Amino acid sequence: AQAAVIFSGIQPTGVPHLGNYLGAIQNWVRLQHTSGPDDTLLYSIVGWHALTLPQNSRELFQAKFDTAASLLALGIDPERSILFQQSDVLNHLELSWYLTCLTPMGKLKRMTTWKGKLATVRNANSEDEVDDSMLNLGLFSYPVLQAADILAYLATHVPVGEDQMQHLELSRDLASIYNRRYSIAEYTKPFFPLPQAIYTPCPRILSLRDPTQKMSKSAPDPNSRIMLTDDAESIAKKIRSAVTDSTKGITYDPVNRPGVANLLTILDAFRPSENEFDSPSEALTALASQYANKGTGDLKKDVAEAIVEGWRRPRAEFERLRADRGYLAQILLEGSHRAESLSKLTMDRVRQHIGL
Ligand code: ADP
Ligand code: NA
Repeated sequence: AQAAVIFSGIQPTGVPHLGNYLGAIQNWVRLQHTSGPDDTLLYSIVGWHALTLPQNSRELFQAKFDTAASLLALGIDPERSILFQQSDVLNHLELSWYLTCLTPMGKLKRMTTWKGKLATVRNANSEDEVDDSMLNLGLFSYPVLQAADILAYLATHVPVGEDQMQHLELSRDLASIYNRRYSIAEYTKPFFPLPQAIYTPCPRILSLRDPTQKMSKSAPDPNSRIMLTDDAESIAKKIRSAVTDSTKGITYDPVNRPGVANLLTILDAFRPSENEFDSPSEALTALASQYANKGTGDLKKDVAEAIVEGWRRPRAEFERLRADRGYLAQILLEGSHRAESLSKLTMDRVRQHIGL
C-alpha cells in the first residue's frame, strides 16, 4: 500500500478539555503507534483559523505555547510527528488563494458552520441591522483554508470529529475540481489525493452539566468540562455533580441515558478494555454490565479516578513544558522547517500547473 500522509489541525485555544483530548488528541497519539513507518504525520496549530473570531493578541500568543505544551504532554512525539504552527508556513495561504479561485460560492454558503453563525447573528439583531463585523470574509471562507492545510501536504487521511465532516467533504471537492481543471497529461494519477476521514472513536463527549450538549470550552459553566489543568479534587467534584438520570442501575443507552453513557465512554477511553469488541457500543455495554449491582456513585468514583490517573503525568508534564518557552519554540521551529520543505514540493508543482 502507498504511504499515508495524515494531517490534522487544532486551534490555539490553550489548555484542552476532556472533549478535545478524547475527541481529537488521543486519536492523534494513537495514530503514531498504528501508522506505518513510511507514513507521515502532521499536526498543526492553526492560528489563522482562530482569527475568524475576535482574539486578544496577548492571549493568542500564550495559547499557542499552551496548545503546543498540551499536545506534547498528552503524547505527541515530535520525532514521530511534525508538530508546527500553521502561520509559520506561508504555503498554506498561497494554496488557499488558488483553491479560493476554484470554489463555487454556493458550496461555502451551504456550510453548516456558516449557516449557524449567520442564524445566530440574525437572531441577535433585528432584521435591518445585522452586525456585519461578526460575519467577516475569513469566517465565510476558512473551510477553503482548511482544504489548503490538508492538500498542501497531499494528505491522504484526516482524523476528524463529526463537526468537521462537511469541511472534509469540501476538501475532497476542491481536490477533484483542481485535478479536473489542471489535469496534466504527465500524471497517471490525480495530483491531489482525495483525503479520507479517520473517525475518532469518541466523536462527542458531552457536557457534564447538560448531557444534551457537547462538552465545550465556550459553555458558561466551568463545571461542565474538565480541563487538563484541573487537580484531583476538582475532577472528583465535577464528576460527582455530573448530571445523569433517576433510572436505577447502570446501562449503556446513549439515547435515553446520555449522561450515564457519557461517563461510560470516558471511563472506557481511559481504561481500554482488554477484550476485543466488534463495536464501541458492545464494549460500553460490557463495561456497563460490570456495574450491574452498583450505582451511579460507584461509576462516578471510577471515572474520576481514571481521569486523575490517566492525566496525572500529562498534567505535570504540561506544567513543566509550559514554563519552558525556549524548548516549545524550538520544537515548533523544527516542525515548521519540515512542513515548509514538504509543502514546497507541492507548491512548486502547483505553480507549474497553474502557469505562474
Ligand atoms: P470547542 O468545541 O470546545 O470549541 P474546538 O472547536 O477547539 O473545541 O475543538 C478542537 C478539537 O476537539 C476538534 O477536533 C473537535 O472536534 C474536538 N472536540 C471539541 N469538543 C469535543 C467534544 N465535546 N467531544 C469530542 N470532540 C470534541
Ligand atoms: Na468547535
